[in-house]
Amino acid sequence: MASSLSRKSSAREAGYPPDSPSRRASIDPSKLVRMDKSGEYHVWYVVLELETSLFNEVLSAYTPFPVGSDEGPWNHSFRFEHKLGPRLKVVALIDPAVERAASVLQHKCETFVKSAYENTRIFRSLDDYVKGMDAKDAPRAFVIGSPPMFRGTTQSGRNIEMQILKHFPDVALFVEKPIATGPSAEIQEAFKVAKFIEDKGTICSVGYMLRYLKAVQMMKKILDDNNLTVMSTIARYACAYEAIAKRDWWTKSISAGPIVEQGTHFCDLSRYFGGDVDISSVSAHSLEWYENAGQLSKMSVDETAIQPEDRIPRVTAATWKYESGAVGSFTHLVALQGHDYSCELEVYADGYQLKLVNPYVQPVLYIRKPGSDIEEAHRFPDDDPFFSEVSVWIDNIEDIEEDPETSQILCTYEGE
Ligand SMILES: NC(=O)c1ccc[n+]([C@@H]2O[C@H](COP(=O)([O-])OP(=O)(O)OC[C@H]3O[C@@H](n4cnc5c(N)ncnc54)[C@H](O)[C@@H]3O)[C@@H](O)[C@H]2O)c1
Repeated sequence: MASSLSRKSSAREAGYPPDSPSRRASIDPSKLVRMDKSGEYHVWYVVLELETSLFNEVLSAYTPFPVGSDEGPWNHSFRFEHKLGPRLKVVALIDPAVERAASVLQHKCETFVKSAYENTRIFRSLDDYVKGMDAKDAPRAFVIGSPPMFRGTTQSGRNIEMQILKHFPDVALFVEKPIATGPSAEIQEAFKVAKFIEDKGTICSVGYMLRYLKAVQMMKKILDDNNLTVMSTIARYACAYEAIAKRDWWTKSISAGPIVEQGTHFCDLSRYFGGDVDISSVSAHSLEWYENAGQLSKMSVDETAIQPEDRIPRVTAATWKYESGAVGSFTHLVALQGHDYSCELEVYADGYQLKLVNPYVQPVLYIRKPGSDIEEAHRFPDDDPFFSEVSVWIDNIEDIEEDPETSQILCTYEGE
């Protein structure tokens, strides 16, 4: 089986220095296909009789089965269904909330994708699954979408990645971001998990899907084609707080606050362009809920029900040095009302400004280059990074011949 390890080696052989900023894995943006333009989708219908369960998947608990209408854009099951068509067989759903799991499965079975879910079994835990699974349904891949506090360590009960690979050494893993949220003393454990996964040669993808945006890959290509070194990244993420009605989100001890909860995507993108960060250089300020400037008038939750020390900051702003010497900054704001977020990332290099605007909804990339003061605007209609992420992961699982044309997974467990 092709391994992420061997792919990494081939990237190195291709001349990419391992830690060079802006030289991390990238995909030619023209190769990122739209979900409805994925040729393979049709092929799989043709091969149905030959390949009944090429892809058995265990979906660990996650919102891929949203109940109700507010499913958000991160409905992974929808992408799996489109990528694999009738070849998708979800053999188990592992979730301690078994009633919820049963209800979402029932909902799935009432739709045209029934064949993927009609034999799905529900288990409370991985151990129950291992004891109760049918050998003929041996899974090919696991999607890990449980909350991050239950994973990313080497400790019993919070080491699901290692447990899965102990029982199923050949499966591929998809792990939702962030990979871990424990105290800083546990960071080394996450690196141990990364090494464990890499040593096993597991095909593993981590859900930082913004890396798969065509706009992001175009930025990467410009930097690579022109042999540029990033001088600075400037990121801003302003969420629409009025639309956030989950009390857990507003509770620091549960969500770990807005930087971990949602800013993580922009921290990741900053690092994707700027390279590794000198962690000792990070300096941050926050505007807290009790300060005069931190008063919010349209919250959808009753914040008085949350303990004062557990309430989240309204603004968090940080600056840092990258190991290359470049400077990064990020400001997260809980300030907007309405529904849409306002998010931007600017990347600067000698003569260049690459400005990514609205990456979640309608990405626009503004490019200013040497030789002109005018910004070119590039739009990417119908780009679905969640689909590209799933699609690349599946292509890697199925690429037993190690086809050099297969796109590289853009975020490994270690974050390369
Ligand atoms: N990429 C994205 O844009 C995106 C969007 C949303 C969520 N996420 C990530 O997905 C993950 C889950 O987020 P969520 O909002 O669905 O969380 P959630 O709190 O709704 O939990 C998801 C499910 O996990 C189950 N669960 C709880 N404990 C478990 C355990 N020990 N083992 C297995 N299942 C368990 C819950 O019952 C629930 O059904 C997080 O890491 C989050 O950051 C990513």
